[in-house]
Amino acid sequence: MIHPVILCGGSGTRLWPLSRRDRPKPFLPLVGSHSLFEQTLERCTNGQMFAPPVIVAGEAHIELIEEQIRDRANIEIIVEPAARNTAPAIALAAMRLPADAVMLVCPSDHHIKDAAAFIAAAEMAASLADQNWLVAFGIEATHPETGYGYILQGEQIGGGYSVERFVEKPDLPDARRFLDEGGFSWNGGIFCFQAGVFLEELEKFHPQMIGHLRAAVAAGTAEGLHFRPQAEEFAAIEGISVDYAVMEKTDKAAMVPASMGWSDIGNWQALHDAREKDEAGNSVSGRTELVDCENTLVQTDGPRVSAIGIKDLIVVVDGDEVLITTADGAQLVGKLGGAASQ
Ligand code: GDD
Ligand code: MG
Repeated sequence: MIHPVILCGGSGTRLWPLSRRDRPKPFLPLVGSHSLFEQTLERCTNGQMFAPPVIVAGEAHIELIEEQIRDRANIEIIVEPAARNTAPAIALAAMRLPADAVMLVCPSDHHIKDAAAFIAAAEMAASLADQNWLVAFGIEATHPETGYGYILQGEQIGGGYSVERFVEKPDLPDARRFLDEGGFSWNGGIFCFQAGVFLEELEKFHPQMIGHLRAAVAAGTAEGLHFRPQAEEFAAIEGISVDYAVMEKTDKAAMVPASMGWSDIGNWQALHDAREKDEAGNSVSGRTELVDCENTLVQTDGPRVSAIGIKDLIVVVDGDEVLITTADGAQLVGKLGGAASQ
């Protein structure tokens, strides 16, 4: 059995005005009628292959999570007393599982078009995890994005590869060089490993963190399906992502190539790319009328939006906020006053 661990953190400002602090990206129906979180849960629900998932989240998200879990039973929610990024979040889940449990760590805010390809990659990853590898999912790198990790593949092992180099969030010249040199994939942010192997590697590079984590878990409280680590011990941990804390440093990193229509829906243009479109390449939602428009996203939760003859634009109406931008501008939405001050 594989143990899915679903990470819910960070609010994300780049999908403003839709995504806001009180209704963050994972819980919105961005592609299709279910939220990215619900879709993540659905992908990892299959009694044959997956044990019930463990969710790791901050207090602020618990209500939304419980609404969206609906009647699913046996889902443990680990409630973080503070946000300390992904390495401590994953370690908490690892400490709640048996050492030989194979974990599949899934971000709650990604979209995956091809669920069958995801399952095939997960099976391959789990078989490498059984052999003590820490497995990342490699996504074909198509442009020099600096917000991702880059994986240089080494020797073939099973259905995957050992990792020659893992570079988290390179600067632009390095990202360009990786694409030119070839052999690099993006890190998809999905990981598979045995709980015990992960904790051993984390302890090698961050022994202090493991000490605080063990204390926080030992003094934690379980109430129904909620587990709350002890707050002071957990707050004493440094915030660091699993990519920097473990994947860049370990010599046990492996990668399975995953061609599954992956997107982390990092901005409005990425959302447009992931959505169903009409013949002219428009994706619309809400009351809209488009005449002679091309490759345009229009979304409104109230006023009707009518557009004639526009191309390559993003138009979002949400309550009393309106956003109009281009594909390039979509990268900068988080810097807008409205997004920053919410
Ligand atoms: N529970 C919990 N607690 N979850 C967290 C926390 C936390 O403190 N911080 C982040 N998360 C969740 C986020 O909600 C997201 O689902 C996932 O963990 C990854 O965190 P991000 O903050 O979105 O990471 P990133 O996008 O900058 O980078 C990661 O993902 C990229 C692919 O999308 C890295 O793994 C990169 O290497 C990777 O390319
Ligand atoms: Mg992300």
